[in-house]
Amino acid sequence: MTTTTTPGTTALTNIASLVTNDPSLGDGTPIGLIQDAAVVIDGDRVVWVGESSKAPATDNAVDAGGRAVIPGFVDSHSHLVFAGDRTQEFNARMSGRAYSAGGIRTTVAATRAATDAELSANVARYLAEALRQGTTTQETKSGYGLTVDDEARALRIAREHTDEVTYLGAHIVPPDHADDPAAYVALVTGEMLDACAPYARWVDVFCEKGAFDGDQARAILTAGAAKGLHPRVHANQLSYGPGVQLAVELDAASADHCTHLTDADVDALAHGATVATLLPGAEFSTRAAWPDARRLLDAGATVALSTDCNPGSSFTSSMPFCIALAVRDMGMTPDEAVWSATAGGAAALRRQDIGRLTPGARADLALLDAPSHVHLAYRPGVPLVTAVWRAGERVH
Ligand code: NIG
Ligand code: FE
Repeated sequence: MTTTTTPGTTALTNIASLVTNDPSLGDGTPIGLIQDAAVVIDGDRVVWVGESSKAPATDNAVDAGGRAVIPGFVDSHSHLVFAGDRTQEFNARMSGRAYSAGGIRTTVAATRAATDAELSANVARYLAEALRQGTTTQETKSGYGLTVDDEARALRIAREHTDEVTYLGAHIVPPDHADDPAAYVALVTGEMLDACAPYARWVDVFCEKGAFDGDQARAILTAGAAKGLHPRVHANQLSYGPGVQLAVELDAASADHCTHLTDADVDALAHGATVATLLPGAEFSTRAAWPDARRLLDAGATVALSTDCNPGSSFTSSMPFCIALAVRDMGMTPDEAVWSATAGGAAALRRQDIGRLTPGARADLALLDAPSHVHLAYRPGVPLVTAVWRAGERVH
């Protein structure tokens, strides 16, 4: 990976098609597509976008070579602080065994046994992997420590790598508390929260049968909010349940997974401020039924796409892969999927400064070795991301 900072203004010219995600620009669609475009960057910000022929004079120029440029991906859901992997579990699943999330315990044991340096190196590795695939903002969370010290450690390490950090002490009830889940909820809402809150922006809970029920989830999210952490929820992944409606009721930034939704769940998402974050890598890797993005979009919900990168249910850091799945199997158009992987992720993190390429936005760009963003779905599995800028710096 090379990092290059260029003093003065830089124009990226000769862009065949530019996704701005500003509907007032270009073709008037939600992705604000501009053909034959240029982007001007000054420091860490975008200062101008438009047709190449109208670009202002700049100190430097980079020729995009008639290829496509999109905003850097905003991956709003991952679990990168872990050790070990679960190859055997994946193998067993591909031989017919069902996913139950019980494998989380395997990763908890490996994570507790790892050193800080090992965990930090893992986070760095997966972040670098994601960056090469165009991800310029990455949320990540705890959830494989599940003791006061191990959760706080996970968040401290995560915070060394990204600002978008989520406290997920309520991932599962760990084996050491299996006899007394109420005591574990008290820990998560008490001493563990106090130790973790300084490192986190968000609080999350896995609201699911076998993890935490609606009442427990409400207590955990409310306690987190009282400490200044904003809610997000693992909701309705493996079964129908209260997670989505609780998320909307508590104004969670995002309800994640949304695989099993009633009409009332869809209605709540369509009328609330909570983004529905879909994680197709999880359905791919667990051979589960796909979430129905079309149903959510047609109802008027805001949809984000994210990787859910974790060693159990979705061991991919690739937003392009998720886009391809969402288009092929979840009823999204390529335009919608690219929007959801950029502006949708920004909405799920309640961020205005990323996920779009308009004056004032952070200069996070991915250059594709393709004439159009549609190729992200059209050419699945092909490493099309050929250069990445984050905050105006060329980082890949
Ligand atoms: O988002 N659903 C809960 N947590 C993860 C899975 C974690 C694991 O299997 O290790 C998820 O899919
Ligand atoms: Fe997850």
